[in-house]
Amino acid sequence: MNSEVKIIDFTVHGDIRGSLVALECTKEIPFTVRRVYYIFGTKADVSRGFHAHRKLKQLLIAVSGSVTILCEHGTEKKKFQLDSPDKGLLIEGLVWREMHDFSSDAVLLVLASEYYSEGDYIRDYGEFLRENGCGG
Ligand code: TYD
Repeated sequence: MNSEVKIIDFTVHGDIRGSLVALECTKEIPFTVRRVYYIFGTKADVSRGFHAHRKLKQLLIAVSGSVTILCEHGTEKKKFQLDSPDKGLLIEGLVWREMHDFSSDAVLLVLASEYYSEGDYIRDYGEFLRENGCGG
């Protein structure tokens, strides 16, 4: 499958009470969600991730605080700042991802297209570069 990384801006339903974002499968979320997890309480100066997946699709949302996501695929290597619940980062296919600079209040919600499977992980950067085939 092709790899892709892009920011998706969500519609915010706001009124005098505050804000609400609604996400539905195959509309705002371009896949069927089989798994949800969230990362929180990340200690200062800790980075996470450092792996790729072969066919997983994920939508990452900083529902609180902020985090920087570094994504590498094909010939592209780019940092995305997730700092608002009104946007998500879609990651599809063979993409190396690293998560850095978690704020102390960061809650990173991840919606995923597949159940957890260690076999779908590529944790070795050299192996990722070989499968990526573009020399990184
Ligand atoms: P890990 O892959 O190290 O997280 P990160 O990519 O954010 O650095 O996962 C931490 C632990 O959680 C590890 O023991 C595997 C487990 N885990 C699950 O059981 N299910 C999941 O969906 C995920 C993402 C992790």
